[in-house]
Amino acid sequence: MSKYVLGISCYFHDSSVALVKDGVLISAVQEERFTGIKGDPSFPSRSIEWSLSANNISIKDIDYIIFYEKPLKKFLRILNSSIEHFPKSRQFFISQMKRWLSEKIWTKTNISKKLKFNNKNILFCQHHLSHASSIYYPSNLDHSCIVVNDGIGEDQSFSIWSAEDNKINLKYEIIFPKSLGLFYSTMTSFLGHAVNEGENKVMSMSTYGNDTLKDKMNKVIYLDDKEIFNQNMEYFEYHFSLYNNFSKKLKNLFGDPRMPNSPFLNQDLKIDNSKAQHYANIAQATQNITEAVIKQQVEFAYDLFPSKNVCLSGGVHLNCKANHESLKNSQFQNVHINYCPSDAGGSIGASLWAWNNVVEEDRNKFKQDVYLGPGFDDEFIENTLKNLKIDYSKYHNNTDLLIDVSKDLQDDKIICWFQGKLEFGKRALGNRSILARPDKKEISMKINEFIKNRESFQPFASSIMEDKVNEYFKLNEKFKNSYKFMSVIAYDNKKHSNHLSGVLHEDESCRIQIVSENDNRLFYTLLKTFYDLTKIPLLLNTSFNLRGEPIVDNPIKAISTFLRSKCDVMYIGKFKIVNNV
Ligand SMILES: [Fe+2]
Repeated sequence: MSKYVLGISCYFHDSSVALVKDGVLISAVQEERFTGIKGDPSFPSRSIEWSLSANNISIKDIDYIIFYEKPLKKFLRILNSSIEHFPKSRQFFISQMKRWLSEKIWTKTNISKKLKFNNKNILFCQHHLSHASSIYYPSNLDHSCIVVNDGIGEDQSFSIWSAEDNKINLKYEIIFPKSLGLFYSTMTSFLGHAVNEGENKVMSMSTYGNDTLKDKMNKVIYLDDKEIFNQNMEYFEYHFSLYNNFSKKLKNLFGDPRMPNSPFLNQDLKIDNSKAQHYANIAQATQNITEAVIKQQVEFAYDLFPSKNVCLSGGVHLNCKANHESLKNSQFQNVHINYCPSDAGGSIGASLWAWNNVVEEDRNKFKQDVYLGPGFDDEFIENTLKNLKIDYSKYHNNTDLLIDVSKDLQDDKIICWFQGKLEFGKRALGNRSILARPDKKEISMKINEFIKNRESFQPFASSIMEDKVNEYFKLNEKFKNSYKFMSVIAYDNKKHSNHLSGVLHEDESCRIQIVSENDNRLFYTLLKTFYDLTKIPLLLNTSFNLRGEPIVDNPIKAISTFLRSKCDVMYIGKFKIVNNV
């Protein structure tokens, strides 16, 4: 009889659920995909319902439920921090107590009542251990150092772990309020972007800056030989304020914060004015010190637990530029950063930890799969199209479909692509994507401005055939396990730059997904078909969603999103829909 572990991550941001059957991760999905609320932090009832029904089981079949962090420990940290900073923390304290006492602190009881599940079989995994497990267990490595870097867990903001023979042990930790992740989030809000959403925009802005603010930034955060780095907390208020994460002192240092959506690039994609240049310089100082700190963290980790391998997790490692710059010369030979470094991956890590440490000690070797969410067969899709009275054409084989997609792409069409099972995580890895040819700047500008409503400085990722990538990008062998998840950037090797006009960033880098036939056969075959037609082996690939919305999960949302967008054609299963608007 099969054994099941259900992992849950919620109540902070990016709620999710993962299901492990006999040691294998068989499904995982984020609640936002069902509710339509981006980053939805609520209890993931709909994800649980889907996980059980999609795998033909009921809650009675679940052996253990595991929550991705320890609520009581987190509550005590908030309580202690509030007391320490009282009365400045008064509003923060009142707000937090309301939230915690009404729901969060009763997590075990809530899960037990909501799911009618025996509370003796509800487990808790430490937040950073969930992050560590989400990268180590799917990696199939035996021996690895693990580095976790995020805003804040219960009280850890950084940790180093040893992993040997299936067991993960803590070697080093940095405790709140010191936090590289919260520093970056603070600068994200200073630069006019939403926390937990706009960090990638700071990374993009940074390439337009220059390094003139290094000394000023070093007053805020600086390297330290003994403690890796230090932060001057006088510049921050996130540890006690409900409303501000930075203090007046930071404003005195860098001037007024940037207003959201204020001009940055002009129509020629050059810095708009001196104010914009100043903010670009702040972004670069933020990015540079972050890269320097991570480099120091990784060197520290290697000294503490030398290994051929390093696994990295936590929201900070969504920063694909920092991942590249900090680790490109590290002593670790293999760098593993996968598709779920953020808190959403906590459910995956916790469930795999429970399997390997509570249920069985026998580790299953399995292929790391990112396509873990809902999928829909052609019959379901066709019925949906008929019910919605949508005109469509139908293909009877993938070959004809892929030829038509490729011809449309060649003709400058912007394509919505909905195939197979939904990806887990923030990146669209070829099943729920908006695709376009990569060699025309005007197409990427159109997608930015009219489809995704993004700021013009935000670059696009590209997906490229595994067997052609060396002809286009300078690769580093260390990152071979990370390129397929869009976890690191790569630089143009200048052999075919004319094919990269729409996907190269200001610094000639690109966030790439190397696609193999083994990892995603249909998507690889699409790239190959497009290559046969155009001699270009890559596509611009951005997530299939509109601004402020999560990636689409089902055909109805896909159709609705497509019809509201300015995309030209949608290929959904074996069906083609043309947008006549
Ligand atoms: Fe985290």
